[in-house]
Amino acid sequence: MNITQELVIEHQLILTINQHILVVSLQPNQISNDEYFAVMEQYVSFVDHFIDDYHHVKEEEFLFQALELPGIIGPHLLIAEMLVEHELSRQALQLIKQGIAYKNYDEVIQGVDKYIQVMSGHISKEENILYPLAEKYLNNSIKLRISQFYEDIEKSKQKSLLWKNYVNFSERLILLLREVCTIH
Ligand SMILES: [Fe+2]
Ligand SMILES: [Fe+2]
Repeated sequence: MNITQELVIEHQLILTINQHILVVSLQPNQISNDEYFAVMEQYVSFVDHFIDDYHHVKEEEFLFQALELPGIIGPHLLIAEMLVEHELSRQALQLIKQGIAYKNYDEVIQGVDKYIQVMSGHISKEENILYPLAEKYLNNSIKLRISQFYEDIEKSKQKSLLWKNYVNFSERLILLLREVCTIH
């Protein structure tokens, strides 16, 4: 039984959107003021609803806690590091939100850059170190409980609608980037 495969699929959408938003964030002169901040608001919505309230909830409330159960010796320090990085990402998000509120391009650019730097390294550590350890250390009965929790979250957060919204957002970013590139 694999309990991290879905998390890796979620990472793929996170990495794709992050990569695109980074390029968009650096083009304030190529996009109208209103559109720039509207796209950034949608990015904040993606981070709040897809990353923090969905993906990070699965990790923090179930996967990481299971790895800290008595008898599982191994990735405790790594989990502490992952939680610090989630916190750092939330601080970067605050900077983006502040930049949007004050229509301050520099703060938005700094916040997006910081957010993406934290998340890129973080996702790589999870996929290459933590998730393989989770698959190795957790027994099948714990894995079954985790996947049941995941199903509950997916139901309560309306997984298919959530995905649809943010896949659409990802596609909108690609179109916007094409427009920006043809303006040059
Ligand atoms: Fe994480
Ligand atoms: Fe993750």
